Amino acid sequence: MSATKSNPRQSWSVSASITSKRTSNPIRAIVDHIKVKPNANKSMISLALGDPTLFGNFKIHQSCTDAVIKEVTSYKSNGYPPSTGYPHARQAVAEKFTLPEAPLTAQDVILTSGCSGALDMCIGVLCNEGDNILLPRPGFSLYQTCADSKGIEVRYYDLLPENNWEMDLKQLESLIDERTATVVMNNPSNPCGSVFRKQHLLDFLAVCERNHLPVIADEIYCDLVFSGNEFYSLASLTKTVPVLSVGGLAKKYLVPGWRLGWIFIHDRNDIFAAEVRDGLNSLSQLILGPNSVIQGALRDILHNTDESFYDETRAQLEANAKLSTDILSKVPGLKVIVPQGAMYVMIGININEFKDIPNDIVFTEKLLGEESVMCLPGSVFQCPNFIRIVFTSPPEVLQDAYNRMTEFCARHHV
Ligand SMILES: Cc1ncc(COP(=O)(O)O)c(C=O)c1O
Repeated sequence: MSATKSNPRQSWSVSASITSKRTSNPIRAIVDHIKVKPNANKSMISLALGDPTLFGNFKIHQSCTDAVIKEVTSYKSNGYPPSTGYPHARQAVAEKFTLPEAPLTAQDVILTSGCSGALDMCIGVLCNEGDNILLPRPGFSLYQTCADSKGIEVRYYDLLPENNWEMDLKQLESLIDERTATVVMNNPSNPCGSVFRKQHLLDFLAVCERNHLPVIADEIYCDLVFSGNEFYSLASLTKTVPVLSVGGLAKKYLVPGWRLGWIFIHDRNDIFAAEVRDGLNSLSQLILGPNSVIQGALRDILHNTDESFYDETRAQLEANAKLSTDILSKVPGLKVIVPQGAMYVMIGININEFKDIPNDIVFTEKLLGEESVMCLPGSVFQCPNFIRIVFTSPPEVLQDAYNRMTEFCARHHV
């Protein structure tokens, strides 16, 4: 090497990658800018986090705890599982969720680190940088985070509050072009708490079929739905549209921290056979799948949990949803869109009825500052002038929060 050639590596200069710079969570981008402090004279109530374990009122089933203890003390699950999951765990999931109309074998199940891991892999396997992806608005913000991080263009299709948050299928279809790689749909919905009717799902599938568009169906809340509503897995309604359906233990089994999610490959016509199955397999090798102990315990968790546990969880959620609707729908200035499932309610703010609140972000800031009640502004879900409430707190906590919100709205109403 020539002694005169200048060495560009003269000093430390380590920058963060482009991928890391384009990875950002829209919730953090807005919430971290809230500088208002809670009112020191009032206890803090957070209705912002979709974590059902926070207050201890949603109890996991004993069989889940027993299964994990048994697995740890058996010392059988301490090694590396295959990156797509232990075959026996994939088999247990397939047996639990197979349907005559949407059959699953162990080969169709990939275990992932939470449903977030499943979403990241599904978006990663279907989309290239420069492609576009259709996402729901309002929608779970991780979809956008994953897409941005991979340089995928996001196109939002609208969910219509006046139609129980059904998809605006005309507008959705108008967004599709030759670079549209996939569409993400979420049912039941975070943040809307909506549950799609069967006919609406069929109409959505007709759009996908016409445009040869594969679907990522986020069904993590699956049958956490309230009386009068029914959950249909998207894949059970089509024999032609290929669907990657994602879910996991987080919500239905009330253990988000266990980080066990899955992808179901529903592909009756082998459209994913040529490349996508292999692609998912390759992507699973990035982090080598979820925690081995929970995989080892999975059969017992899924197959030994009494039906009564699910009924109890649903009943508790439904009672909290009703309490929320009953109180908040009477508050002048608010418009509750009645939830049909999951653990969320979106509430419209009639901004022109408030004298000093110009938007949802100021609404949540003032509510926090005056009443120590925290909820998320709809803007974090691309839905201004709404707020999202998580109704998993105990009823007495919800009641307290809603009393404070009622007083808050009365103070600021014109
Ligand atoms: C719609 C939706 N999808 C996916 C996830 C992520 O689930 P996990 O905690 O298993 O990663 C959540 C979590 O809140 C969610 O609401």
